[in-house]
Amino acid sequence: MSRIVHVVGTGTIGEPLIGLLCHLKDQLGIDEVTFNKRSPNLIDRSKVKTLLDRGAKLSTAKETISGFEKIGIRPSFVTSDAIERSSVVIDCTPSGAGLTNKEEYYQSASGVKGFVAQGSEFGFGKMYARGINDDALIPGEDRYLHVVSCNTHNLAAIIKTMALGNGSLPNNLVSADFVCMRRANDVSQDSGFAPSPQVGKHGDDQFGTHHARDAYHLFQTQNLEFPQLFSSAVKLNSQYMHTLRFRLEVKEPTTVEKLLGLVKENDRLALTYKKSANQVFSFGRDHGFFGRILNQTVIPHETLSVVDGTQITGFCFTPQDGNSLLSSVASTCWLLDPEGYEENLQALKPWFFEEV
Ligand SMILES: NC(=O)c1ccc[n+]([C@@H]2O[C@H](COP(=O)([O-])OP(=O)(O)OC[C@H]3O[C@@H](n4cnc5c(N)ncnc54)[C@H](OP(=O)(O)O)[C@@H]3O)[C@@H](O)[C@H]2O)c1
Repeated sequence: MSRIVHVVGTGTIGEPLIGLLCHLKDQLGIDEVTFNKRSPNLIDRSKVKTLLDRGAKLSTAKETISGFEKIGIRPSFVTSDAIERSSVVIDCTPSGAGLTNKEEYYQSASGVKGFVAQGSEFGFGKMYARGINDDALIPGEDRYLHVVSCNTHNLAAIIKTMALGNGSLPNNLVSADFVCMRRANDVSQDSGFAPSPQVGKHGDDQFGTHHARDAYHLFQTQNLEFPQLFSSAVKLNSQYMHTLRFRLEVKEPTTVEKLLGLVKENDRLALTYKKSANQVFSFGRDHGFFGRILNQTVIPHETLSVVDGTQITGFCFTPQDGNSLLSSVASTCWLLDPEGYEENLQALKPWFFEEV
């Protein structure tokens, strides 16, 4: 049976993901890449043509086939057929659409091994972040996976490495507080730019914002209970890398040197002497995969501080959308081959950096 991966949506996450899957398909153990685009238009024609040139095949709804044909593009499948013939479907649509697609298309597509959705789709399936909870995935049982948002990846990576790393007791974490300083929009987006910092409300009574809430649910998949997480969000007038300020309280006394040792042991975390998001972004543009580094987080280590052995404070950068792309590919490879996926994922190794 062919291993077909189908991506729904060609936006900020979908477009680079389709390109990455096409580029590395043989190493990742994929036979064919298909993608769905809803709206035919001239602005996006170049993007669709380039993805077709890179080997992907297009699907769209029956009603929009003629629209694509009018702009010189011939879709290969209608939406529902493309989903049903797939091995794995990765939904990269904006807030709420993935949950609607689940009801409308995915639940009836019984031949598909599994479905993956992105950050905004709370409730879609088991939460997942590469390197955080791989051991919580159950072959044959988990068909719906929810890749957590890029900032949730970052928060979880900091907790896992600095509070739970190197044989620490699971109850080592006393509390964790995060301020997510979010970029206003992506370099690929026209709308949503913020002229000045905009603070977000603490809409979640217990966790503040969805970032800590999602991290709580992510760790819960491993039977770890961290109700003492809290996050705040502020949107900055920048298009580069989100920046995270963290403060953890732990039980076992530690030092900056010990923490740096733990970070160095983890391939998915990078250290840097750079202090600005644009410098880290620029490194990704020159050395990343089509501009992206895939590390979960980049830590300017000179900002790390430990007070009284137990209060850990620091800053880190969330590498644009790299960690969401990584977990989307990892969950897809796992659904295709739960035994061999780690080996296939080594194809991504060149885009993890120890130092940025
Ligand atoms: N942006 C980021 O950096 C980032 C990072 C991590 C996670 N995420 C998550 O990734 C997901 C997608 O975000 P995004 O920023 O990539 O969104 P986006 O740039 O707005 O792109 C959304 C895409 O989905 C398509 N679409 C919209 N509604 C649809 C529907 N009902 N059915 C099928 N296709 C539909 C659009 O297709 P057409 O062009 O055909 O209309 C568009 O290509 C969200 O869950 C978000 O939370 C985003």
